[in-house]
Amino acid sequence: MTVTHREPVRFLVFSASLRTGSLNTRLAVLAAAAIRANGGQADVASMRDFDAPSYNTDVQDNEGFPAGADRFRASLTACDGFVICAPEYNASMPGALKNAIDWVSRYKPQPFNELHGLLMSASPSMGGGNRGLWSLRVPLEHLGTRLYPDMFSLAQAQHAFDDLDQIADPRLRDRFAANIENFMDLVEASKHYPCVKRHWVEYLGEHPEPELDRVE
Ligand SMILES: Cc1cc2nc3c(=O)[nH]c(=O)nc-3n(C[C@H](O)[C@H](O)[C@H](O)COP(=O)(O)O)c2cc1C
Repeated sequence: MTVTHREPVRFLVFSASLRTGSLNTRLAVLAAAAIRANGGQADVASMRDFDAPSYNTDVQDNEGFPAGADRFRASLTACDGFVICAPEYNASMPGALKNAIDWVSRYKPQPFNELHGLLMSASPSMGGGNRGLWSLRVPLEHLGTRLYPDMFSLAQAQHAFDDLDQIADPRLRDRFAANIENFMDLVEASKHYPCVKRHWVEYLGEHPEPELDRVE
């Protein structure tokens, strides 16, 4: 389903794969198209834009932030929410992605704090790379990202796209579309509807308190 009107919402969309021919990049292209079809702005980036040397405090102190970290920070700061399509490497996230997160976590203000995020993956395996997304939730939630509870993982992804590069299975295609649309509704509500309670709490039943608020 596509919406006819939506308040302005802007999303960063990128695949965390560095390789050409990436399955996750194909999924990211679909995510950006779905965002645009639902009235949002999608800024598509490449992991190559954000790639950086291994994090080292000496380098940060003596040389400052690398260009990839500057670009990642700028892209995060410009958006209302992000979609990452991340490969699973050894049941976790790719090292390049964790390294990029580590670099931007050192900026002040810390750009992930209170930003909305949606996680997706594609893999030739039956699990679709879903374990990698669970590992990715840990640093992102630690940094205060408002991660959408639902995630989308495309299993046997080398066979999952049709000739038009759409998700071939109609039920999976619908689920993918609903995931994006529901996430967009949440980000739109959070940004534009002042009646929405802005506090973010970690556990159901936890009441917002200044002492528990995340530091930047
Ligand atoms: C170092 C490495 C580790 C991998 N580990 C896993 C894994 O744990 N689970 C999985 O589903 N796929 C794993 N794969 C396979 C990737 O899912 C597959 O290469 C996928 O196509 C990578 O994403 P991309 O196509 O977007 O580059 C691994 C691949 C590499 C290179």
